[in-house]
Amino acid sequence: MTHRVLIAAEIKNLLDPAQLADLDITWLPADEPTPKGDWVALVPLLSRWVGGTELKNLPNLRSVANVAVGYNNIDLVAAEMRKVLVTNTPGVLTEATADLTWALILATTRRLIEGVELVRSGQWTGWHPEQLLGVELHGRTLGLFGAGRIGQAVGRRALPFGLRVLYTARTPKPDFERETGARRVDTSQLLFESDIVSLHVPSSPETKGIINGETLARMKRGAILINTSRGDLIREEALAMALELGHLGGAGLDVYTDEPAIHPRLLAAPRTVLLPHIGSATEETRRQMVAIAVSNVQAVLSGNPPLTPVYA
Ligand code: DGY
Repeated sequence: MTHRVLIAAEIKNLLDPAQLADLDITWLPADEPTPKGDWVALVPLLSRWVGGTELKNLPNLRSVANVAVGYNNIDLVAAEMRKVLVTNTPGVLTEATADLTWALILATTRRLIEGVELVRSGQWTGWHPEQLLGVELHGRTLGLFGAGRIGQAVGRRALPFGLRVLYTARTPKPDFERETGARRVDTSQLLFESDIVSLHVPSSPETKGIINGETLARMKRGAILINTSRGDLIREEALAMALELGHLGGAGLDVYTDEPAIHPRLLAAPRTVLLPHIGSATEETRRQMVAIAVSNVQAVLSGNPPLTPVYA
């Protein structure tokens, strides 16, 4: 028996055709709206909103397999009400995203983009003792706002750089603490003591806008903010202002509130490294993400529990 499924067209080249047995696929490009019809599964990109209306228009839907660990593009309550199983892709993108977080930490603290621009401009006049002075990592404090899989992987990479690690989390992480010497603190202490604050919580009603004028003011003068999680954790205009005023020493961002749009004031702000949401963008990771998404669909359609379910 074949099952009618809607799959994001953009993942076609990353899929193993052997995984697609028994699927009657409609490829859905990102710029097309979610159609109405009798499809039984949907494999969307994180940029596709799947809410009450979309779910209502797909009355036979049994599974939404997001190609992302984050699932803030899906209305979980509406899905649960319609008995649609929602899955994500945890685990496989942890290391790639932690690597990119470090790329941002190093690029912001050592002013890599300014250096590249100086060289490319032809204006570099040679070594100068005060040229592009950055922040030395050794002996500084890294604050992980959230210490799930990715936050912990970022924290483990801090050891060889000689950083002290603080973290916030609902529950203590004793193994992580043993491994890294990290210390669990509350949000105020994390903001107050960290030289680099890196965000690793999902977007939710509690975390949206958590970095705002008030929390930015509580960060150390000259501190650096890193975000590879979700853009709406940060009030972008407030961040731009903190950078303009020199209160923050820099920001390294991979995600934005309204992707692909970036707040114009943030685009113009000094000392930023702005990337186009590429945290998980390695060949290996992206292939594993799409493989898990399709395995989740196959499991649900064959009456088995999904591998990586998400619950409201
Ligand atoms: C995710 O999986 O949520 C990431 O943002 C994709 O890179």
